[in-house]
Amino acid sequence: MSKNKQNNNELEKRENGISNYNWIDANEYTMNSFLLLDRWVFRWIFTDCSRYNWFPSGGRDYKTELAKALHRYPHVREFVREKAPECRAFLDELEEIPDPGWSEQELRDAETYILQAHETFVVYAYPEVMNRVNYIRNWNEKYLHELVDVTGKIVLDVGSGTGRLAFAAAKKAKHVYASEPCDRLREYMRDKIKAEGISNVKVLDGEVCNLPYEDDTFDIVCSGHVVGDFYEEEIAEMTRVTKHQGWLVVCNGEDEFKRTAPDDELTGRGFEWFRHVSAEGGIIYNYRKQVVKA
Ligand SMILES: C[S@@+](CC[C@H](N)C(=O)[O-])C[C@H]1O[C@@H](n2cnc3c(N)ncnc32)[C@H](O)[C@@H]1O
Repeated sequence: MSKNKQNNNELEKRENGISNYNWIDANEYTMNSFLLLDRWVFRWIFTDCSRYNWFPSGGRDYKTELAKALHRYPHVREFVREKAPECRAFLDELEEIPDPGWSEQELRDAETYILQAHETFVVYAYPEVMNRVNYIRNWNEKYLHELVDVTGKIVLDVGSGTGRLAFAAAKKAKHVYASEPCDRLREYMRDKIKAEGISNVKVLDGEVCNLPYEDDTFDIVCSGHVVGDFYEEEIAEMTRVTKHQGWLVVCNGEDEFKRTAPDDELTGRGFEWFRHVSAEGGIIYNYRKQVVKA
């Protein structure tokens, strides 16, 4: 999850340089989890994180910890190398870090550090675990239906994850397209559609800055915890695929973060905001904007 996707209070949770959502206990996972992840995730982990200093050191050097974490998993390193050739230069740099005789304990410690740091990616490999994270497990779909009337509409959910918004919308919408760049999550939604006989949801790949749809396709384009890495490009692309007088909706889940203000990147781009207190006492903001095209 990007540093902006839930705004200010989440940033504080990263102040030690690692993700502290506690969505997973990294001790229960190994670097083999990476074998279940997608190429675009590897780009974040093996190039962008370092380039943008996405993870402050917290007293530890990200590259050294990553080198240690991969030390006992050469097959994971090779997998990343093959799946994401653009990460090869960074992987080479990791391999050049000398091993001064790291102990087993140091290696395992680095492994859990890296897995915890990337827990927001690790959960993409385990949809059932993702469904149990705070913002999804406590969510009530009334918050989507209060924001926008999807009845009879054609809806796109961008970055669907396990389908929190897509399946809620499908109860009233005509058709829902669930766009999701993670293979494991797409397959999870397809299994659910089959198991539950859902007939109006289609699952597709799709990246928020490059959506695989024609202009003016949808009545409603919604997302949750997706917009926030590159606001300008993301909102422009979501607007492109929305019909004149359709709606853009940002409907977040329920968590415990006590946000102090709406996201000014969204309000500054014309989004109305709505605020409520979550079951866990968090302050949650949701947003909507009507698209007007000349
Ligand atoms: C934090 S999860 C939120 C899932 C779901 N929207 C929800 O609120 O329950 C973020 C989701 O966005 C997807 N995602 C991440 N980067 C994306 C991008 N650039 N474009 C589209 N989806 C993206 C991830 O694969 C993941 O499923």
